Amino acid sequence: MKQRGEKITMLTAYDYPTAQMLDASGVHCLLVGDSLGMVVQGHDTTIPVTLEQMIYHGEIVARGAKRAMVIVDLPFPVGQINVTHTVKAAAKILKQTQCQAVKMEGGHQQADSIAALVDAGIPTIAHIGLRPQSVHAIGGYRVQRDADRLMKDALAAQSAGAFCVLMECVPSELAQQVTQSLNVPTIGIGAGPHCDGQVLVTNDLLGWNGGNVPKFVRKYAQLQQQAKEAIEGYCRDVQNGDFPAPKESF
Ligand code: KIV
Repeated sequence: MKQRGEKITMLTAYDYPTAQMLDASGVHCLLVGDSLGMVVQGHDTTIPVTLEQMIYHGEIVARGAKRAMVIVDLPFPVGQINVTHTVKAAAKILKQTQCQAVKMEGGHQQADSIAALVDAGIPTIAHIGLRPQSVHAIGGYRVQRDADRLMKDALAAQSAGAFCVLMECVPSELAQQVTQSLNVPTIGIGAGPHCDGQVLVTNDLLGWNGGNVPKFVRKYAQLQQQAKEAIEGYCRDVQNGDFPAPKESF
């Protein structure tokens, strides 16, 4: 698709109905992101998410996807301990979830792990730029402007065998330079329009969350507001005695 100049679409999924809906909508890739720690579990960071939780969500998403590629995140600190630990954990994810690939945060410092994953037959995406699992080390969720570091991470990930590089929160021109320098596709989130594809958190674009969304999100719906109105209607009907009606009763 990169060679043909066709843009790649990726969205997050954490459950079966969302996976079915995204798959039927034609999204190319479903990412079971460790963002589920924030979106589904209500944590402030992705750090508390466990390997077992990623496997649980990965398995139900993969069951709902008949066509799209399913990618599961390696949670903290799976990619950071050592190469053997990383490969074992990623193999467990692939075996138990039936997903097709994993994503891990890191670039040149994780090149050995990426190479070992690829050698083990595990297709791997490298996540560079803003790496949410390192939020405390990098001092918050900030735009990453270090051009040398970004390029070094991207090239190291590609040389190690990553089939795709995901860039989070980097200036558009930097993301463009990286995209032009790589043979493998880039997927951006908050990385401007020049990446080979885009990813967003599905709940953000559907308005299916309580809080504020980052600047790079476009909201295509306000589902939480609609759902709230529907639930209020249900509560009203029950309290008025309007629900259930005879046609809803045996
Ligand atoms: O965990 C996640 O959902 C991600 C995306 C935000 C890219 O890594």
